[in-house]
Formats: sequence, structure tokens, C-alpha cells
Amino acid sequence: SPALACRLEAARSVVRDAARMAMAMRPQPGGPQGELKAAQDWLTETDGAVEAFIAGRMKALFPDDGFEGEEGGVTRTGSLRWVVDPIDGTSNYARGRSRWCVSLGLLEGDEPMAGVIEAPALQEVYTSLRGYGAFLNGKPIQASRVAEPSRAMIEMGWSGRVPKPVFMEKIDAIMELGAMPRSGGCGALALADVASGRLDGYIEIVINLWDVAGALPLLAEAGARVSPFLRDGGLTGGAVIMAANPHIAQTLSDAVRIPLE
Ligand code: IPD
Repeated sequence: SPALACRLEAARSVVRDAARMAMAMRPQPGGPQGELKAAQDWLTETDGAVEAFIAGRMKALFPDDGFEGEEGGVTRTGSLRWVVDPIDGTSNYARGRSRWCVSLGLLEGDEPMAGVIEAPALQEVYTSLRGYGAFLNGKPIQASRVAEPSRAMIEMGWSGRVPKPVFMEKIDAIMELGAMPRSGGCGALALADVASGRLDGYIEIVINLWDVAGALPLLAEAGARVSPFLRDGGLTGGAVIMAANPHIAQTLSDAVRIPLE
């Protein structure tokens, strides 16, 4: 709809400025900068600054839309609902690595409608709009066609929210299938990689809405299959997510015992 297309356009421009800001504040390599929220859970000055910047701009543009973020929580409610992760992959960012992004998603009720994910250090921008497609730097993308686990690459995300045995059990199942396990430290970009066919699947046992809100419409438009994250509790708290190309999704789902949508 025109209202959604106009919002995607606005989000694209706000995220571009936010990503520039994050690049300007980017820590130098040499050791993590920022503070620890919990073991292995980093927070930098940039997280708060970028979220405040995006929140202010979106409020001025769409004062009636809901808004929530990783740092500030729910600040406004509305039938259209923006969800921001100012820096996804903060641990990477805090060490001066390149694999992090700014993610802004738009939901209508509990339907993911549009998203922008920008990884400025990689010079990549993903955009999506329900019914209109999924794009990387303006070019259409699609999930991969790899069906054979021995040729597949599957990423698994980790955070301190996940007990070691649960993580190990799933990693073990991925390797038993003969697939290549990977871990990159940025959930939103891993999901974007599933959408673009750079990965065949992504699994994380407990992930939050702000990490996935920008990627959910991208995955749907790129033809990936996803577990029912929002119905599994993802709208209000952490939940499991699995996304995979449609050719390997069922095999993977059976192996790791995470049901698909
Ligand atoms: C984290 C990253 C990480 C994922 C964690 C998230 P943050 O987000 O996406 O890849 O495994 O679950 O919390 O804290 O960097 O925004």
C-alpha cells in the first residue's frame, strides 16, 4: 500500500543516517569497548545514541505509529509498530569487527510488513516490503536451492540466554546431518544471509523481536521458511527462531526438532 511504501522510503533514509552515525562512533580494534550488561553481553555508547536518533526521527515523521527498541523498550503503541535494534551484533561492533547492522522493522498488528537492515561496514543494505520483494543493495534476492545437507551451511546464534547443553544438542544435530556449522555474531545479518542465499539456514534458541523484526519480511519475500517466531512468544519476549531455504527446511526442522510455520 502507498502508506507502507512511503514508510519504507522514510525508514531507509533514517537508517542511512543512523548507520553513518554508528560508523563515525565505531570503536577501534584492540579489545572490546563499552560496558558489560551481563557476561558476554555488551553495550556501547552507540546503541543508546543511535536508538535515540531513530526514535526521534520516526516520532517526527509518524507520530501515531508505535515504536519500540532494544534500549528504550516500548515508547509508543499503535496498529503500525516500528521495532529497532540500533546495533545488532554489538559484541562485534565493540571489537571493531565489521559484522553488525542497524535494523528497523515495521509490523502491522503481528504481521511483519517492511524492514531495513543496513550493515555500513559491509556496504550492504537489505530492504523488504510485503508483496513487493526482498532486496540487497536494490537487487532482488532469493533463498538458496541447496537441498543436500552435505552441501549446506547452517549458522547457529548464541547468547548467554541459552544453556550450553541446549546449544550443543542443536549444533550436534546440524553436524550429524553433515552440514557446515557457522556462527557470525549478528542475528539480523544471519537471517538476511538466509534470505539472500548466502546461508541455507539459521537457528537461535532465544532471540528477541528487535533482532529479527527487520529480517522477518525479508525472509518471507525471499521465499525462506521460518518457524512461528511471533506465535512462539517472540512478540513479547525471547523465542526460538529457525529460518531456512525451502528445500532443506523440513530436513533441518526434523533434525533439530524445531517446527516450521
Ligand atoms: C545479539 C546478536 C547475536 C545474537 C544475540 C543477540 P545485540 O544482539 O544478534 O548475534 O546471537 O541473541 O542478542 O545484543 O548485539 O543487539
